[in-house]
Amino acid sequence: MMLNTQSRLSRATTLAILLLGIFTAAHGSYVTRCGHQLCLDGKPWYFQGANAYWLIDFVQKDRGMVDRFFDKCNEFGLKVIRTWAFNHAMPYEWGKYDENQFKGLDYIVDSASRHNIKLILALGNTWTAYRSPQDFMRMAGVDPSGKDILAFYNSSAVRHLYKDHISTLVWRTNTFNKRRYLEDDAIMMWDAMNEPRCPGCSDAASQRVVRSFLEEMAGHLRSNLPQQLVALGTEGYFLNSYEDYNPGAGARCEGEDWEGLARMRSIDALVVHAYERQLESVPPKWTKCDFACFLNYLIQYLSVHQRIAADVGKPVILEEFGLILPEYTQEQRVLLFRLVADNLQWMKQSGGAMAGTLFWNAAIGNVWDDGYNVYLDAPVAKPSPSPSPSPSPSPAPSTSGGGGSTSSPSAGGGGSSAPAADAGRAPIVANTETLTDFLRGPQRAACAEAAAKWWLPMWTAAWAQTVDVAGYQRRTADMTVLQVFLDTKAAIY
Ligand SMILES: *[C@@H]1O[C@H](CO)[C@@H](O)[C@H](O)[C@H]1NC(C)=O
Repeated sequence: MMLNTQSRLSRATTLAILLLGIFTAAHGSYVTRCGHQLCLDGKPWYFQGANAYWLIDFVQKDRGMVDRFFDKCNEFGLKVIRTWAFNHAMPYEWGKYDENQFKGLDYIVDSASRHNIKLILALGNTWTAYRSPQDFMRMAGVDPSGKDILAFYNSSAVRHLYKDHISTLVWRTNTFNKRRYLEDDAIMMWDAMNEPRCPGCSDAASQRVVRSFLEEMAGHLRSNLPQQLVALGTEGYFLNSYEDYNPGAGARCEGEDWEGLARMRSIDALVVHAYERQLESVPPKWTKCDFACFLNYLIQYLSVHQRIAADVGKPVILEEFGLILPEYTQEQRVLLFRLVADNLQWMKQSGGAMAGTLFWNAAIGNVWDDGYNVYLDAPVAKPSPSPSPSPSPSPAPSTSGGGGSTSSPSAGGGGSSAPAADAGRAPIVANTETLTDFLRGPQRAACAEAAAKWWLPMWTAAWAQTVDVAGYQRRTADMTVLQVFLDTKAAIY
């Protein structure tokens, strides 16, 4: 068969194909935007992927672990991995970067390239993990004491430093493959920041400040990158439009006008992070959503973002989602992942705007566990049930009104620990970072309290209950999350 085909080809064609083969081995293809979709090799492309923020730490101790991790990602069809392009000493002063940490990132980028994995790199963090906004202020010569995150966004010195930081990253020559980051197709996309919140910044003046910061950073990325995609790293909250799709009254108070930002010219792809912990207690009864309610909320939340993305003609990526243990169960996690995978398959079938999904957080071995870890080196088959009683399925309902706000899992940071379920795994240490004065906790609380007087969720309406939860329970009863990845891999590539 192969010989027959080859014998019909002219020598010139064969040579061209051979050369092309060599070329593609050295350089793969860039993921590009094609209307409201992502394309790879000229065709619409839908992907599943994961976050793995810990790579920047573990690469320092064991480079082989990065390679083993990407091997596992390929086994399960996780083709896009999101990680941090900043670190404890990246930068440590204006323009200064720890070279060992940078070489670690070099190794991750090069290993991704060798494994045909695409990366999303976030350039900074709203939260304190690794490099905080306060760190950037100090490095820019702005004393953060007595100031808050609005001052971070509004400082011209910080903006100058942050743009230099962006330039350093994108123009970096990789010490392993000698390519500049901006000419490496293993880097699919850059997030201007991870979760650029400005709590309590819902007024027009603060909104202008946050937007102009993001416009300046995205524009700087856009003007430096010939090929790679630009995104903001947002969570998806609405302000002044679509607010009834928000996860709570106070979501408008995170300072993120997702629909307005979606139209920014310099961004190629839109980004959403969705967690059950974002859900606030809702009026009129002030009860918190249970798991089934969360699933229905999530589908409505994804749908509205997909519609907006299609309207503005840009793809949207569910860049973070997941379910924390032991507050929820493995069974509930599988159900959630199956639901998200079904949505992705539907997007592929219908040519929809949601191009891909990345869960928080993929791990192997003894990687730290914030309760969200999905271990890619675990058994694919579900272990036979143990006779012990199953843990309680959902958290106790909260009765308090607006004002509560938690960080997302990508905040990082430490908290209370629970014993590890498996020997050799790290114990669960849940992230407990909350809004501080610097992160405008009081302003956020006041804003949420005011919003709670009038806000009503769309997703508690009868028509919004579209997920057949019992059907999903039956369908996923014997599944693991890893099986969902394998099934999705077979369905979408
Ligand atoms: C931002 O900074 C400028 C001065 O550089 C100031 O006039 C303005 O009030 C600040 N905006 C906010 C919302 O703090």
